[in-house]
Amino acid sequence: MKTVRVEASGCYDVMIGSGILDQAGALLQKIMSPCRAAIITDDIVQGLFGSRVEKSLQAAGFKTEIFAFPNGEKQKTLQTLADALEWLAEIHLSRSDLVVALGGGVPGDLAGFAAAVYCRGVRFIQIPTTLLAAVDSSVGGKTAVDLKAGKNLAGAFHQPELVICDTDIMKNLPPELMRDGAAEMLKYGVLADAALFDRMADGSWLERMEETIAQCVEIKRDYVMQDELDNGARQFLNLGHTFGHAVEKCANFSITHGQGVGIGLVMAARAAGVEIERTEKGVSACGLPVKSPYSARELAEAALSDKKRRGGKITLVLPEKMGKCMLKTIPVEELPEYFAKGTGENP
Ligand code: GLY
Repeated sequence: MKTVRVEASGCYDVMIGSGILDQAGALLQKIMSPCRAAIITDDIVQGLFGSRVEKSLQAAGFKTEIFAFPNGEKQKTLQTLADALEWLAEIHLSRSDLVVALGGGVPGDLAGFAAAVYCRGVRFIQIPTTLLAAVDSSVGGKTAVDLKAGKNLAGAFHQPELVICDTDIMKNLPPELMRDGAAEMLKYGVLADAALFDRMADGSWLERMEETIAQCVEIKRDYVMQDELDNGARQFLNLGHTFGHAVEKCANFSITHGQGVGIGLVMAARAAGVEIERTEKGVSACGLPVKSPYSARELAEAALSDKKRRGGKITLVLPEKMGKCMLKTIPVEELPEYFAKGTGENP
């Protein structure tokens, strides 16, 4: 098992290892006395892992309750949040109790937000069950739901007390969920570790999953610790996301986030004019698309309504070489130019 320590406004361990889902109770008992544990998840994850988590927590003295909402990105709404909060109130969860966020990015973000606002904040832990949640959304304390106007527009920073990532779950994911996680892992490689990128590209990460997930979490941890509230260095984690999110938006979110990030990483390489072929090969080797079906103009229009825009400026993350990137803040009027480079329309 590998442990990555995060020291932000809350300090906690991210534990990564084989079979540790069934040790959730024992791991939790090391950092808190038994209390009531309100598990928030979706119906698919409940069926797959709910009873194992409950059994493990109960064996360690925790009293469990479980709330499951229908699976899917469309459920990440204020309504589902309200349902979860009403449920927490109905079961009389107190401020000395705990919320357990069990699942992928949707249950993780939503349960985290519920924990952030219920009774003005209760403790919570993350048990990610997708690779994307393991390497990204379960770490760093961003919690949110979507609004009609856009994704993650209502949320809070609220750090978990513990993250438990069972690599046996990650090894047995459906291919689409594996690819979505791989997109974020490739991102960490482009950002901070060329060897990590190459290991993703040649597929050897699959034999070294525990170590590779831990490396990704360490990279994310370092940005979070520099800039927990996302005003500076944490923006590096948006690499591939401004471009990718525009593709997702143009596709009306019919492509996955990982697919958007895959295309976004290649567009960022093209826009910067560095490591284009290597990036394209790595993204493609992970089963992700590399080319936007939309024009630079369509994409730039979609990106201009992105929440990452601050005033008349937008900050792009551009590679300098594999494993090193820079932040470039540009006037929004220049965005179409970068999109044109990114799609290859204007090399
Ligand atoms: N997912 C990007 C961040 O946590 O900042």
